Amino acid sequence: MQREPQAFDRVLSSMCTTPHPVAREAAERFLATNPGDPGTYPTISALEDEAIELLGEVAGLDDPAGYVASGGTEANIQAVRIARERARTTATGGEMSGTPETPETPTVVMPESGHFSFQKAANVLGVDLELVPTDDDHRVDLEAVRACVDETTAMVVGVAGTTEYGRVDPIPELGEIAQSVDALLHVDAAWGGFVLPFTDHAWQFDHAPVDTMAIDPHKMGQAAVPAGGLLVRDETLLDELAVDTPYLESTSQATLTGTRSGAGVASAVAAMTELWPDGYREQYERSQANAEWLAAELAALGYDVVDPELPLVAADLPQATFEALREAGWRISSTGSGELRVVCMPHVTRAQLESFVAEIDALESESETPAATT
Ligand SMILES: Cc1ncc(COP(=O)(O)O)c(C=O)c1O
Repeated sequence: MQREPQAFDRVLSSMCTTPHPVAREAAERFLATNPGDPGTYPTISALEDEAIELLGEVAGLDDPAGYVASGGTEANIQAVRIARERARTTATGGEMSGTPETPETPTVVMPESGHFSFQKAANVLGVDLELVPTDDDHRVDLEAVRACVDETTAMVVGVAGTTEYGRVDPIPELGEIAQSVDALLHVDAAWGGFVLPFTDHAWQFDHAPVDTMAIDPHKMGQAAVPAGGLLVRDETLLDELAVDTPYLESTSQATLTGTRSGAGVASAVAAMTELWPDGYREQYERSQANAEWLAAELAALGYDVVDPELPLVAADLPQATFEALREAGWRISSTGSGELRVVCMPHVTRAQLESFVAEIDALESESETPAATT
């Protein structure tokens, strides 16, 4: 096979990036290992313990437990599964195991800005997903969350770095609400987790009563795909996921997949060892400066721009301009409301953004219409 993967020079909407060279090298070295079978592959299994220790440092958690998942989707599904199992155990007084009858379907309360992976979780796990609105600045409306939770609520979700606008929900307040109904608080920091440590946001385990978290090395963490992260505050939460593994040397397994990528685990450890914290801080500063530069340029061209609180810019470009940019090979996407969305990942350079803006400028001049949103 002679084909090559796409270049990254026009990729502006992906939440993945080129892996750091040390992450790439480690991924290749551990390609044929399977942390799903720790009895046979003890080296990668030990590396996974290191990955969780490092993720705990990033997310402010002493004594972390968890595992390297295939991505944010799996981490979110597993977090919902933990909450569902815990709710069942609580509802039945801890006496039942397996799939007991439940008095009521457990619910997960989530802002409408939550990632679509929770729809999959609800679907697969048979829980009800209750979406609550966000405010004018795209953060969850706390009053709406308060009004939504009740004794059926198994989990409240807060997003730390939303997919569309890079917003951080008020995590400590969500924690209080979750505790008031004895629900778990899950933080989805799949994308934001490797930039938020360098901001003033309250998002992590030592800022709030967070129970579980998705935090992905294969996004801002610069590891190779697949390397997602599921962290839990208390190791016993993982017991909610454990199944017996009769034919393996290890006795139980908490992961969703069986055979897993050792490449993802090894590259996550390599990237975090190399970059935490200074390398990630420098990358955050570069990405954030790029986002602010792009936002200012687009505003100067007359577009409405959503202030980039994290390195993600949303702007209201005319549909025709958006389509012309896609035609020209720019890999861009739009929000649910139709704004252009640019994620300033590590591979996105200032030079790349300059040529992107120049192309928008040229398209606008060609169409001889003033920058307008219709
Ligand atoms: C906030 C958030 N959560 C979860 C996910 C899903 O992650 P993955 O695509 O790695 O499964 C994404 C993906 O972009 C995301 O932005």
